[in-house]
Amino acid sequence: MAHKLAIFNMKGGVGKSATATNLAAGITKFTKKAKVLLVDIDPQGTSGASLGIPIWELETQLKDIFKSQSIEEKESLLEASILSTPQGVDVLPSNIFLAVEEISISGLPGRENLLAKAIAPIEDSYDYIIIDCPPNIGVFSINALKASDSVLVPVDMSYVGLLGVRGVEYAFDLVTNFLDHEINILGVLATRYDGRKIISRDVLKSLSEHFGDLLFNTTIPETVKISEAPSYGTSIFEHDPKGAGAKAYRALMKEVMKRW
Ligand SMILES: Nc1ncnc2c1ncn2[C@@H]1O[C@H](COP(=O)(O)OP(=O)(O)OP(=O)(O)O)[C@@H](O)[C@H]1O
Ligand SMILES: [Mg+2]
Repeated sequence: MAHKLAIFNMKGGVGKSATATNLAAGITKFTKKAKVLLVDIDPQGTSGASLGIPIWELETQLKDIFKSQSIEEKESLLEASILSTPQGVDVLPSNIFLAVEEISISGLPGRENLLAKAIAPIEDSYDYIIIDCPPNIGVFSINALKASDSVLVPVDMSYVGLLGVRGVEYAFDLVTNFLDHEINILGVLATRYDGRKIISRDVLKSLSEHFGDLLFNTTIPETVKISEAPSYGTSIFEHDPKGAGAKAYRALMKEVMKRW
């Protein structure tokens, strides 16, 4: 059965999608024979688009699997919806139509378990499933947390980013108490780190004091190359293989694999 990791933070722009895509690409590239599925449960469609998936031309997508009722229908929709990238990562993409249907999806019975049910038929076909969440604690994020066995929380180096940590902990309490789903925090990741800035050093120190060993040793630097890679539809490992971003995401990948 696959390891299932949600990349979650209620705050926007902290590097969830950058981390989901580069982690998926890194595991595929550096771990022999590992099969990785990247699930995009964010209507922005960022992680699929970042690996070159034409998200505006999808014939079927994750939302269609949510709405299907029989296992047979789910299986055939999964086959039609999952697209492969040149990096060797399989992607189950979404786009804005996931948001368009949020209200009807929210009314379905068992609405918190739709993602767990959607990916159940293919779990054995993958070693790792990485789920990119939207920046909120709505029905899609709850689905991602319920479908996962672990969570990685990227936190950007800002005062507001630090405040957002309280919100993340509250969300974990909600899922644990109301949905009986124990959340294993695989780690907290400092993203967009710039050691020249006092705010970066201060936020990193606060995260380290608050989370102790849960904070990954790896920090993801703020680099132009990381921000450029999605516009080429590639991961940082193709866009700038020798740069600081690729080094950091490779180091993160190793830490993640050790903790799993
Ligand atoms: N380490 C980094 N250095 C520079 N730019 C980055 C870095 N990580 C992410 N970015 C850029 O910052 C923006 C937000 O990143 P990303 O989309 O990964 O965040 P997110 O948390 O997924 O956002 P959202 O909450 O909207 O889903 C993007 O333009 C991305 O390319
Ligand atoms: Mg995102």
